[in-house]
Amino acid sequence: MHYFGYKNGELYCEEVPIKKIVKEVGTPAYIYSAKTIRRHFKVFDSSFKSIDHIICYSVKANSNIAVLSVLKHLGAGADIVSGGELKRALKAGIPPEKIAFSGVGKTLEEMEMALSAGILMFNVESLEELEALAEVAKKLNKPAPFALRVNPDVDPQTHPYISTGLKKNKFGIPEELVIPIYKKAKENPYLKPVGLDAHIGSQITSIAPFKDALYRLKKIWEELINLGLEPKYLDLGGGLGIIYNEEEPPLPQEYAEAIIQEAKDLKATIILEPGRVIVGNAGILVTKVLYTKENISKKFVIVDAGMNDLIRPAFYQAYHKIIPVEETFAEEEVVDVVGPICESSDFLAKERKLPRVKRGDLLAVMSAGAYGFVMSSNYNSRPRCPEILVDGNKYFVVRRRETIEDLIALESIPAPYL
Ligand code: LLP
Repeated sequence: MHYFGYKNGELYCEEVPIKKIVKEVGTPAYIYSAKTIRRHFKVFDSSFKSIDHIICYSVKANSNIAVLSVLKHLGAGADIVSGGELKRALKAGIPPEKIAFSGVGKTLEEMEMALSAGILMFNVESLEELEALAEVAKKLNKPAPFALRVNPDVDPQTHPYISTGLKKNKFGIPEELVIPIYKKAKENPYLKPVGLDAHIGSQITSIAPFKDALYRLKKIWEELINLGLEPKYLDLGGGLGIIYNEEEPPLPQEYAEAIIQEAKDLKATIILEPGRVIVGNAGILVTKVLYTKENISKKFVIVDAGMNDLIRPAFYQAYHKIIPVEETFAEEEVVDVVGPICESSDFLAKERKLPRVKRGDLLAVMSAGAYGFVMSSNYNSRPRCPEILVDGNKYFVVRRRETIEDLIALESIPAPYL
């Protein structure tokens, strides 16, 4: 569900024609729909209304502070994985007591920042990390609230790069080691065990893996209570998939139903860390056709957005729908849509049926709101795209396009080479 669609033969985001935005900001550009973000958040949040819960939006999916601010106004918390994401969340006004800090490699400085800010909890991924957290807490003389992230060894049946809950993955702590670590932590006055956590992967399109993980977490939860601990937060991570092409992910209501069924008797506050399902279909990447060219066996459409702007097709062989900004009934042809970067992996679509396009035409790469801009880079010295947030009949440039000067501003030529 999203608010991008054709009106009188032209693609609109909500009530604003895409062409109008492009006229001001150029291409390539990311365009987000605030109304879509709000709708997704509300549907997700209200699906859990029958139990105590906090929705900690996963900042990594789209960390623009304007997007965070839209979510903050709906009562969202944040799931963060770095000091940078902490700063962004706080800047957007997300209350620290709704922030969970995940990630396998938190630095001491990041822990210090987060503990001083008064976050809800640290999701700790190893014994060494927990020991480091205790040192930081001692230094600040402030006990650190934490949950251990369990690796429940379930297969989320998604792309291997975004599976995180299998034994062979670097994430979390194996089930059998979790209780001994909590026992150890219990002895330390600077460590405050407040919950239990797991995140098994991303773009998950069936309910079974979530249920399997929850089943395992419940067992550990009971053991924690038997140990005399009083866990309060059960963090189930993110991961609910979206429709890019023909996937059939469960509806948020179905996903919530399954979780509520299993978790309602635990007297826990359930934490959820959705990212993609909130913003994925709320954003597009608009790009312009630079050239078309026909080789003996193939036709290429060369556009001005490359893998540096949207890496998902190159990195995960991800599918993103591509549609023309001006509706056309031109004959369809099979093409590769490729960018200007000097790599053969620089494509947005392969062997894709598209209506015939020509130089200067605009194309919209759909479902690019999650893991789009945030994973973009300056490879080939390409300034990063602007980000635009549409709300009703208004739009705001919420990040301007980078300039070449921005790119070289941090570099210098040492005196001997001048
Ligand atoms: N919580 C934790 C601890 C995570 O690591 C992630 C995502 C999430 C929540 C949010 O998951 P979501 O609801 O968005 O599935 N770049 C990849 C996705 C990487 C996901 C990393 N972790 C992509 O473009 O598909």
